[in-house]
Amino acid sequence: MSVGSLSGFPDGFVVGVSTASYQIEGAVREDGRGPSIWDTFAHTPGRVLNGDTGDDACDHYHRYADDLGLMAELGVDAYRFSIAWPRVQPEGSGEPNPGGLDFYDRLVDGLIERGITPLPTLFHWDLPQALEDQGGWLNRETAFRFGEYAALVADRLGDRVRRWITLNEPIVHMAQGYAFGTHAPGRQLMLDALPVAHHQLLGHGLAARAIKDRGAGEVMITNNCTPVEAASSSEEDQIAAVVYDAFHNRLFNDPVLKGTYPEFLAAGLEGIVQADDMTIIRANNDALGINYYNPTRVRAAEGDLPFETVPIEGVPTTAFGWPVVPDGLHALLTGLKATYGDDLPPIYITENGCSTAEGLDDQFRIDYLDGHLAAVRRAITDGVDVRGYFVWSLMDNFEWAEGYSQRFGLVHIDFKTFARTPRDSYRWLQSALRDR
Ligand code: FCB
Repeated sequence: MSVGSLSGFPDGFVVGVSTASYQIEGAVREDGRGPSIWDTFAHTPGRVLNGDTGDDACDHYHRYADDLGLMAELGVDAYRFSIAWPRVQPEGSGEPNPGGLDFYDRLVDGLIERGITPLPTLFHWDLPQALEDQGGWLNRETAFRFGEYAALVADRLGDRVRRWITLNEPIVHMAQGYAFGTHAPGRQLMLDALPVAHHQLLGHGLAARAIKDRGAGEVMITNNCTPVEAASSSEEDQIAAVVYDAFHNRLFNDPVLKGTYPEFLAAGLEGIVQADDMTIIRANNDALGINYYNPTRVRAAEGDLPFETVPIEGVPTTAFGWPVVPDGLHALLTGLKATYGDDLPPIYITENGCSTAEGLDDQFRIDYLDGHLAAVRRAITDGVDVRGYFVWSLMDNFEWAEGYSQRFGLVHIDFKTFARTPRDSYRWLQSALRDR
């Protein structure tokens, strides 16, 4: 077992694990929780593999004390989890539901008692269905509701939570949820989904302001980022790569880091962006959260979109089929530094990990994590200010459209009995944390 993985990081470098509410909690009708778009979507036949739903997921809502124990044993510094908006506001607006807030209050206390820093994400895709019924993130009003919700949560937890994530991966929520329809809410608007980008970002800005106004600590957004390479040196493919990069990465990084949109996308947002919006979005970004899984290779295409992705050959792939390229994380981080320079705040890798087969022997995951940690360490040596790294995920969970078929956990879950069994990668990370 390699245990050198966590040596050579700066003092105070945070190592944690990451999860999300709908993927682990279950208990979807308890203590006043309202329905979310993921309840609706998962219960619509044909949407999720094998008809799986998050109704029970890992039953974390009832077993959170076990999961706190697993994290304490593991020895992580921090835990990134998400707060289910429909638990806090079952209809997405108005008075908070005490039962919902109580759950996160207990969770935060439990973390602090065990010396684990809580890092909540306010929105990891489980929008209250009542807001979707009013247009979801296509409706500008949702951004204001999100700001109000953030204020309620900060009022309750802000005395103990000192670092917050507003949104998880707004690109994925927009693309899969609103452009292609492979995630909730299942819309297929293609380029007409673009306002969803801006409304989420405005929501980020309003939530960040609410947190800062309450003196509740630092705020960041988590963006899914991928280094993009062209499939060939042809001009068409080179242009396709630039366009893909603008949609996937710059559409969400430029506004928070520079207060602008990539030029040609700005045209598509005319009439959507209002006075002061960009100032609000740019105002409070103490750090940047990055989720990295793999690089993307693209070539020119003719269709609704001017690009298409092509497989990256010659590298191992995860159970999901995602290419394993640790160097891509180094390239991404040094690339961000080159692009944004002094505008780049400290970075946290808020998700990185891989899905594997069902078993407990997961040398594949150990190698994956080891390689990516090494890539982060090299980026730090090369001058990028990376402050932390969170493994996706603590435990196997509901992997969205793939249901329970993709296992990302350091801990194996038996989805019939909810038994939790640490995998080899859990033991490996535990040793590495002890040996720091
Ligand atoms: C990310 C999501 C996370 C998980 C991983 C595998 O895009 O943020 O919830 O599904 O992918």
